[in-house]
Amino acid sequence: MVGKAIASKLVELAHEVRMGSRAAGNESAVAWAAEAGEGASTGTFADAAGFGEVVFNCTAGVASLDALNAAGDINLAGKLLIDVANPLDFSQGMPPSLSVCNTDSLGERIQRAFPATHVVKALNTVNCDVMVEPARVPGEHVVFVCGNDPEAKDEATRLLGEFGWPAERVLDLGDVTAARSTEMYLPLWLNLMGQLGTLHFNIELAREVGSVDRQEA
Ligand SMILES: NC(=O)c1ccc[n+]([C@@H]2O[C@H](COP(=O)([O-])OP(=O)(O)OC[C@H]3O[C@@H](n4cnc5c(N)ncnc54)[C@H](OP(=O)(O)O)[C@@H]3O)[C@@H](O)[C@H]2O)c1
Repeated sequence: MVGKAIASKLVELAHEVRMGSRAAGNESAVAWAAEAGEGASTGTFADAAGFGEVVFNCTAGVASLDALNAAGDINLAGKLLIDVANPLDFSQGMPPSLSVCNTDSLGERIQRAFPATHVVKALNTVNCDVMVEPARVPGEHVVFVCGNDPEAKDEATRLLGEFGWPAERVLDLGDVTAARSTEMYLPLWLNLMGQLGTLHFNIELAREVGSVDRQEA
């Protein structure tokens, strides 16, 4: 669902996209590519990672390390990897729990497993329709980026701009350890979804007038 939303948006923006799956010829991926048209192709996780200048991890969080290992560290080395996944564990039913939290996060685990890759955690705090069309939710609502490499975060922020997120609504939370906080937002996100009865919402931040903007200071 997330991979398709992001891949379709990228194709619409005239990027070439290869959708990876565990096995080449994945029925759902092939159907997506046929519908998305020129610029869309499919393959294994390794094919996709080798093809992309930028890689999006849109895999089930509990399986992301397996998927990225299949993608291969050589195919990921030196690249920006935008990690959209949440480590949701549905094995005990609903609501899901987090398979990693408090003192670690999926984003950090990915960065540790692939030290030559520039991991930027982003977009995991909004539904995939909102990821690629923020204007469907009114207001100055925000998304977050975090990661160890400032240039990678700049590149991710530029891509988010293409998706429709103005730079001032992309908040830099610092290094990749901040992935803990955006992943641990998920229980609240799920609660809000249940109470609001929609997937299409987001959070907006308000600050005291005249407060120092640490990002500009
Ligand atoms: N739904 C949203 O709007 C939303 C919003 C924010 C974040 N997220 C996060 O985005 C990610 C994707 O969510 P989704 O609902 O689109 O998809 P999903 O069902 O959570 O994951 C599907 C993807 O995970 C891969 N996968 C599943 N089990 C695997 C395994 N054992 N080994 C290797 N790869 C495996 C699948 O590969 P195959 O193609 O081979 O099956 C497919 O690429 C999740 O981490 C989710 O928490 C979702």
